[in-house]
Amino acid sequence: MIEEGKVLINGKLAHLGDEVVDGDEVIAGGVVVAHKESHCYYLMNKPKGYICSVKDDRGRKTVMDLVPEGIGRVFPVGRLDYDTEGMLILTDDGDLAFRLTHPKSEIGKTYLVKIEGSVTEAELNKLRAGVELDGKRTNKSRIRIVETDKSYTKLHVTINEGRNRQVRRMFEVIGKTVVFLKRIRIGELGLGSLPRGKVRKLTPEEVYYLKNL
Ligand code: URA
Repeated sequence: MIEEGKVLINGKLAHLGDEVVDGDEVIAGGVVVAHKESHCYYLMNKPKGYICSVKDDRGRKTVMDLVPEGIGRVFPVGRLDYDTEGMLILTDDGDLAFRLTHPKSEIGKTYLVKIEGSVTEAELNKLRAGVELDGKRTNKSRIRIVETDKSYTKLHVTINEGRNRQVRRMFEVIGKTVVFLKRIRIGELGLGSLPRGKVRKLTPEEVYYLKNL
């Protein structure tokens, strides 16, 4: 078909030996066999002091202020509080954003949580089993202590919901104050070593993973 001039790669006539990569559009004999990737996907390490929306009526800094120019019309998927940092996905793919944030998806999101003082296993078991917030029980969560000190405790907490200020309010129920909160994982996808405030493109494998969560 290539020799007969029936194959187009990104609108140009293909030649024998041409290579295509993920995201290229291939049309063979008038049939689209590979679509052009029309969406873009980024990962941000959100610093605290930024809100997760495209605009803010109160003039606060938004995560969009950290998005380099030329990236396109992306928006943040889900929310992290003003004071929360860590992993945030930005995309222009509304379908993916909808699926990732839909309550029925129940995708695990893991947070590094630092609380003042200490916490007992009995208190953590209460959180693991679910506590009442706004008259509705939270789903079960996974919690483990990763570091303790005289004045603080650090934990990894995985929840599969995204209720307003959920982690902070869960700890309030057992009388603990969260002094630092960072999202470090969405499903099995980790934040890695992306510096605070920086944005990078998600790899095709990472996008594939998110689309199949
Ligand atoms: N839980 C919170 O309390 N805040 C966040 O930003 C995310 C989860």
